[in-house]
Amino acid sequence: MSLLDECFAANRRWAKTTAEKDPEFFRRLEALQNPDLLWIGCSDSRLPPNEIIGRAPGELFVHRNVANLVEHTDVNCLSVLQYGIDVLQVKHVIVCGHYGCGGVRAAMSTQPLGLIDNWLRHIRDVLLWNRDELNAIEDPTARMNRLAELNVIAQVANVCHTTIVQDAWRRGQALTVHGWIYSLADGLIRDLGFVIESPDQIPPEYRLY
Ligand code: CO
Repeated sequence: MSLLDECFAANRRWAKTTAEKDPEFFRRLEALQNPDLLWIGCSDSRLPPNEIIGRAPGELFVHRNVANLVEHTDVNCLSVLQYGIDVLQVKHVIVCGHYGCGGVRAAMSTQPLGLIDNWLRHIRDVLLWNRDELNAIEDPTARMNRLAELNVIAQVANVCHTTIVQDAWRRGQALTVHGWIYSLADGLIRDLGFVIESPDQIPPEYRLY
């Protein structure tokens, strides 16, 4: 059986056992998408967001791209953010990076990878803004891990600088933006403690009201 045939076979098995265990499962899903959480994470294939934070289907709205970037002209990411906040009324936006991220590693390297180098340029900006702190870290893995953290923090800030988040706050909608990072070594998520819930916490240059 080919790899893709295996996927269809596995899907049929999954649909069957899921419906056997819980006959209402698919009817419920059809009727309800009501997540309180929007997850912006890396495309990395190793850990599925729903599972690692124990969220059932319907409980987590997800956007993923290489190295969990939030870029202010990326219509794809902004559309997810806008739909999540305005329509689904999520209460928390979580930018979650991970240690050992290939995108972060590539942004620290001089080896060209092609088009993606333009995308990863955003991480090179974070690298430049924090050059002194990063250069002071001798161990290359520790330096890369710190850049992964700083990248998450920069992307949390980018989320908050959007018109979408600031319009929500202006309307009085409760919305908190968080920066998290997980390790592939133990599967544990670490809260970076960078939590933004009002425009007072962002630089005046980015405030829209
Ligand atoms: Co990654």
